[in-house]
Amino acid sequence: MKKNILVTCAFPYSNGPIHLGHILEHIQADIWVKYQRLLGNNVYFMSSDDSHGTAVLLKSKELNINIKNMIYENFISHKNQFFKFNIIHDIYYNTNSKYNKLFLINLIKKCNKNNLLYIKNILQYYDIKKKIFLPDRYLIGICPKCKSNNQYGDNCNICGGFYNSLNLLKPKSIISNSIPILRNSKNLFLNITRFKNNILDWLKNIKLNECILNQLINFLSTDNLFDWNISRDKPYFGFRIPSNIINEKYFYVWFDALLGYISLFYKFCIKNNNKILFYNFWNLNSNYEIYNFIGKDVLYFHGILWPCILEIFNYRKPTNIIVHGHILVNNIKMSKSYGNFITICKWLNYFDSDSLRYYFASLLSSNVCDINFCFRNFINKINSDLVNKFVNIASRNSTFLENKFNNILSNKLWDYKFYYLFLNKKNKINDLYLNFNYSKILLEINILFDIVNKYINDNKPWYFFNNNFNKLHMFCTTIINIFRVISIYLYPIIPNIIKKVEIYLNEVLSWDSLNNILLNHKLSKYNVLYSKIFYNNVFDLNK
Ligand code: MSP
Ligand code: ZN
Repeated sequence: MKKNILVTCAFPYSNGPIHLGHILEHIQADIWVKYQRLLGNNVYFMSSDDSHGTAVLLKSKELNINIKNMIYENFISHKNQFFKFNIIHDIYYNTNSKYNKLFLINLIKKCNKNNLLYIKNILQYYDIKKKIFLPDRYLIGICPKCKSNNQYGDNCNICGGFYNSLNLLKPKSIISNSIPILRNSKNLFLNITRFKNNILDWLKNIKLNECILNQLINFLSTDNLFDWNISRDKPYFGFRIPSNIINEKYFYVWFDALLGYISLFYKFCIKNNNKILFYNFWNLNSNYEIYNFIGKDVLYFHGILWPCILEIFNYRKPTNIIVHGHILVNNIKMSKSYGNFITICKWLNYFDSDSLRYYFASLLSSNVCDINFCFRNFINKINSDLVNKFVNIASRNSTFLENKFNNILSNKLWDYKFYYLFLNKKNKINDLYLNFNYSKILLEINILFDIVNKYINDNKPWYFFNNNFNKLHMFCTTIINIFRVISIYLYPIIPNIIKKVEIYLNEVLSWDSLNNILLNHKLSKYNVLYSKIFYNNVFDLNK
């Protein structure tokens, strides 16, 4: 039976370009989406820009442009960049939207009805020069746990500790470089501690990575779980909190961003005249599946706060949360200040999208490891795996087929046993895709490349060219069929190249295509499927 699946990626902020870190997440999700579709399942793939918060506000001031125009321009350019990576979301929008506001009003009603909101006075850092309350990310100081310098207001990059910004030592404002003062202000809190057991029940029933599960259980311990401050002081960009609840405050960006997963899908269903689909996904007893792909830095929001929002709505919770590590560039955290920041626009000026998809897939597994982008390693891998091994399988056979057999495959294979060696990997590859273990898939496939290339070398088809014409025909047909099987395995990872393979094979591929062998079949003229990529010192950030 066909499955119904909703896949989401975390929402990139509206204040800057799509970079290697964002694209890593979207590639990880898109490979899975494409695989599920190859199996014939119904998949809805969704993401959005996240348009609220201090960072977006400050960026529009820095650029001196109208904030809504900036949001719109980024939305168009983000969508376009994903498209160039063959990543086409069924829904992509931004969170400053009508439906998001509607759901927010609804959520607040439900919170009120259940007595979940209260107002409390708190101390916060305030930048007197810039006249703004400082979000944790705009504070820098000494980690209260390990005493490392230059750490953010909420967590430490060195010891990994999370803390309250009031405990940060020698705090400084990043925006003005001045020492902030503490100011008292009333804030709106959401009682989330009451949902602790609901979250634990959900965690027990899903197939989370063990290390992620332990981290979430730790977040839920009495020492670490606090009610959530969902309000922010002006100047801020976001939805205003109704003044009968609290005066002159805005909803915290993360509050309506998480809600975006629900409201955007609602917008999609309305647009497609299919409200039923919405409830089929979100009702408490739904057997439809929902997967959230995220980076490790936003785990608290997705593993703790997101299920609370769903609990308040009385909606179901995600089937699973898939977490990836951070991008390092040449083993250093990617950042503008380190000069190793790579945007997608820049990437596409020099390279294609499939090469990066392949490279990232070779580094992604179900473990939450950081992913190191090493330029030389990237070039070597693409040329060695894709060009020398994969494409070579087809190109060395295509000449015989074209020159001698008018591009028509024989009616029998030369070596069925050898062919089944490749086909029999089907279940293993399926298992690895379903478990997000792409690096292992590529290891398996590289073994297959080597086996088939060695087989061609050992059998030397160019020798029986003259004396056994029939054998040559069946031999090449065997190899092309093996190439076809491997292409199906690779489709979700390198879709552009495999589309060219489909043109060559004269057929649309699906997972079901593995059930038949291509015999007596006319191929198209062989065109180069992929060529070597070259070293380009723009990306060699080690130099
Ligand atoms: N807007 C929030 C997400 C709201 S989801 C309801 C946000 N935006 S972000 O632009 O900072 O990050 C979006 C996603 O990209 C997150 O999952 C984040 O982990 C991922 N990455 C952003 N930079 C990254 C790296 N340098 N490396 C890998 N992924 C990182 O958080
Ligand atoms: Zn520390």
